[in-house]
Amino acid sequence: MHEKVITAEGTPNIALIKYWGKRDSGLILPMNSSISLTLGKESKMIAGKTFELRTKTSVVFSKYLKEDAIYVNGKRLDLKDTDTIERFRAIDMMRERAGIRERALVVSENSFPTASGLASSASGMAALVYAVAYALDLGLTRSDMSRYARIGSGSACRSVMGGIVMWNKGTREDGVDSVAEQLYPETYWPELRDVVSITSPKAKKVPSRAGMARTVATSSLYKQRVKDVDGRIDAFLDSLRRKDFHEFARIIMEDSNSMHATMLDTYPPIMYMNDISREVIYAVHELNKKNGENVCGYTFDAGPNPQIITLREQVEEVAETLKNIRGIKSIFYTGVGGGPRLLDMKDSLIEEGSLLPKG
Ligand code: DP6
Repeated sequence: MHEKVITAEGTPNIALIKYWGKRDSGLILPMNSSISLTLGKESKMIAGKTFELRTKTSVVFSKYLKEDAIYVNGKRLDLKDTDTIERFRAIDMMRERAGIRERALVVSENSFPTASGLASSASGMAALVYAVAYALDLGLTRSDMSRYARIGSGSACRSVMGGIVMWNKGTREDGVDSVAEQLYPETYWPELRDVVSITSPKAKKVPSRAGMARTVATSSLYKQRVKDVDGRIDAFLDSLRRKDFHEFARIIMEDSNSMHATMLDTYPPIMYMNDISREVIYAVHELNKKNGENVCGYTFDAGPNPQIITLREQVEEVAETLKNIRGIKSIFYTGVGGGPRLLDMKDSLIEEGSLLPKG
């Protein structure tokens, strides 16, 4: 009954109110709630071609498999590696829920650079949990799925839904209430755009998991950030309700700056931004000043690549500004996405009837 091959796709999300720091690192419970935009998969290069910003994942559970096998971008993962074991614990948890013992074959492919500051872990986990839930007929709600995705990577729990999504930090010790919730569907503010600049496609020096643990342990500024975030979320929700882009942009820039300030206040310090990131920050403020209001706002994750949130009619102006900054390797933009979905058999990454990856 569980021999069916399921293929799903997921897209990354960009946090507008950031998650940085855990209150429980085993259950992946955050210190503060966070809010993100699930990105659309249709992305367009500025002066270039369109491409897809998504992870595609195929899953099959079979009694003919001796052990779990996970392939990401053509490479088989070492399932003895502690970090990998931790990240894929969700598969075991879902298997247990289904009450089966069959091993799984997972084949996953990203269409964008891994570890570039774009959260491939989020789209990957969202696609994986979605595919496994259907492969095992678990009948999960999106909220249930977010609980499993969270185990793989905290920020991933927000990618199991489309539109504007909040990860409620929850208060329970067992983490059952630490789940994602869709605040608005992707149709609510369809003019929103995320303009992404790649300044460096290299993997980051400090992985976010280790980095945030160090911040919680050593930064005194961090305590203030955690206190501030609740109030900031209230103001942010209000700007969303009113679709007040000026306020919306101010709040996301403040929150990104606040998170990066706590990174610098970490000992030894963590610095994800580079000179180009800082140039972009100045240029955005300059552009907003010229317009007499905020027409765009930057946000940076655990990497140097700026993501500039703006509205459709401003994409060109933002892109023109970015083109004048030396060192930016490429620029693309995308809109708001609808979250993971199932794909057809023809999109499968598993060879039909073979229990092997295609190709
Ligand atoms: C800066 O979700 O990668 O992107 O839960 O340890 O896997 P783990 O961390 P991860 O951290 C993402 C941090 C961030 C901000 C955000 O997406 O909210």
